[in-house]
Order: sequence, then structure tokens, then C-alpha cells
Amino acid sequence: MTDTSTEKPASILVVDDTPASLKLLTDIMKVEGYEVRSAINGELALHAAFSHAPDLVLLDIRMPEMDGFEVCRRLREAPETRNVPVIFVSAASETEEKVRGFELGAVDYVTKPYQRNELIARVRTHLELHELRHHLTEIVDRQTAELKESEKKLKSNLVESVGLLAAMVEMRDPYTAGHQHRVAEIAVAIARDMQLPEEQIEGIQLAGVLHDVGKIRVPAEILSKPARLSQTEFSLVKEHPQHGYDLLKNVDYPWPIAQIVLQHHERLDGSGYPQGLKADQILLEAKIIAVADVVESMMTHRPYRPALGIDAALKEIQEHRGTLFEPTAVDACVRLFREQGFTLQGTAGSESLNA
Ligand SMILES: [Fe+2]
Repeated sequence: MTDTSTEKPASILVVDDTPASLKLLTDIMKVEGYEVRSAINGELALHAAFSHAPDLVLLDIRMPEMDGFEVCRRLREAPETRNVPVIFVSAASETEEKVRGFELGAVDYVTKPYQRNELIARVRTHLELHELRHHLTEIVDRQTAELKESEKKLKSNLVESVGLLAAMVEMRDPYTAGHQHRVAEIAVAIARDMQLPEEQIEGIQLAGVLHDVGKIRVPAEILSKPARLSQTEFSLVKEHPQHGYDLLKNVDYPWPIAQIVLQHHERLDGSGYPQGLKADQILLEAKIIAVADVVESMMTHRPYRPALGIDAALKEIQEHRGTLFEPTAVDACVRLFREQGFTLQGTAGSESLNA
């Protein structure tokens, strides 16, 4: 009998301290076409198994110095022989011995004197089972790797298309160029400092890059107006979180992206827009993006004013810590700039609106 999957004969290690028994077992297996190695004691058996792991071991139990149980235990301990099927072949027929053998990880137990055909059938079955298990593990490993790879691709496609969407919005208004990416960068750094789970941080990054996507429905001339906005103009701008939500609500992201975008201008005391939500009603992700948004906006210049700088930006969020802005996010943001020397990787730009 050969190992059909590789067309190479399966290799069997036969272990028995009685020369006649060892020869008989070896001959039977050789006639069946297996590649057979034999060992006359436990020590030699282990040496043979460790130097080249067999596909199966036929193992006598009662041997001087190191018995079959000990050999089996050591085979199970070593990574290279851990999964090699062991069949005990022993004259001992007490249930207790058999149970001990199985407890040590043997796959079968054949009592001497054995029926030649029965022994051959058992060996064949266990070799096939072992082969199947090996294949199954290989298939599962390969499929897991493939799944991880396609998940990675999907994610990077998602990030790419989101980046494209963000770029489209910013193209209409040169003053907002890079704003969303910089907000995402600050928001991610804040979230990291707050030690949020990586999964949640990924959502914050995506929502950060998209947070002003609704501005695509705000007239371009309002977005880039180099002067303070009128009441009416500002009310149009204030619709952008809702527009963003409408655009994103049907996209099946693994994070509540549409909700975060909808809430990024909400403030803890309920003075924000569009819904006037309060503290606990606002998603933490939206609170973090709110802080990042304000800081980024004040750091960069706008059509109607020069950049106010990081000091003014940090002062602003600290002054409104707990009233407008989430205290933990404010603290993390201040730590980033004041203690950790955080700087933006993105190119300098500006946002046209205080929105
Ligand atoms: Fe906004």
C-alpha cells in the first residue's frame, strides 16, 4: 500500500524489543509496500523518529529501560513528531493498559497475537486519516491566508475609494485641500493616545477622511468665499453633516461612518448642529473628530483670516473642555502637541469655513 497523495510510499517506524516480533512486523509492512525502519528499543526508536519523522509508528509497550508509553509520550512532546499516529502493538490485553495508551495520544491498539489482515487494515486506515487531516490543515491554512489577503485588499480598496471621494470634495474648494486627511491624522493620533482599540481607530480614520464629504452639495462659491458668510450662506454650510450622512448612510461600512459624519459638529452642551445632541448622545468617534477638526482649522489659514496657530488652537479646545469638547479627547490632543512633539505629515493647507 502506498501513500496515494504523494505517490511516495508512506514511511513506518516499527518498534519492538523482541527480534522475531520486530522482523515479522517489518516484513509484513514491507510486503505492503511501505518504507520501513525498525528499532529494537525505545531510545533507538526516538532517535529514528526525530531524525526523520515517520508517517506512522507501530509501537510495542513492554520493553526494558524505556517502555512504549514513554516513547509515545516523548513523541507527543516533540513538535516534529507530535502529529505522527502511533499504534500500540502489545501482548498486554488489559483495558487499563489500552486506556493509558489512548490517553497518551495513541490512535489505535492492536493486541498480539494479531490477525495480519486486521493489522494491515488498521495501518492503512490511520495513514489515510492522518493524510486527510494533514490536507485539511493545509487547506484551512491556505484559505485563511487567502481570506486575510482579500480582506486586506478590500480594505485598501475601501481606503482608496474613500480618499478619492475626499479629493473630489476638496477639488471644488482649494482652501479645503488636505483638510480632511489632516483631521483624520490628528483624530487617529488622539484615538491612539486614548488607547482605543485598533478596529475603532480604523473607523475614526475613515470617518475623518470623509467628515466633510457633504460639502459636495454646498455651492463652491460659498465654500471659497474670502469673507465672513451671511446668515443664509452659513445655514447652507451647516447642512453639510446631513448631506454627508445622506451620501454615506447606505454604504455598508464595518463602522458607523455615516453617524460619525453626521455628528462631527455636535457639541457636548447641545449647542452644535444639526441635531443639537448632548454629551452621551454623541458618538466618541465624532467627539474626537470634532476636536481634531477645530484644531486643524485654527492651525491653517482661511480665505478670510490667516492661520491662528497651534497655541491658539489648543487654547480654544482647553477653554471649552467639558462644555463643547470631550475632555479625554482634549487632554489627548494637548498631550500630542505639547509633550509628544506631534506634527502633521500632510501638506499645509487651509479650510475655507468655520464649519
Ligand atoms: Fe465639517
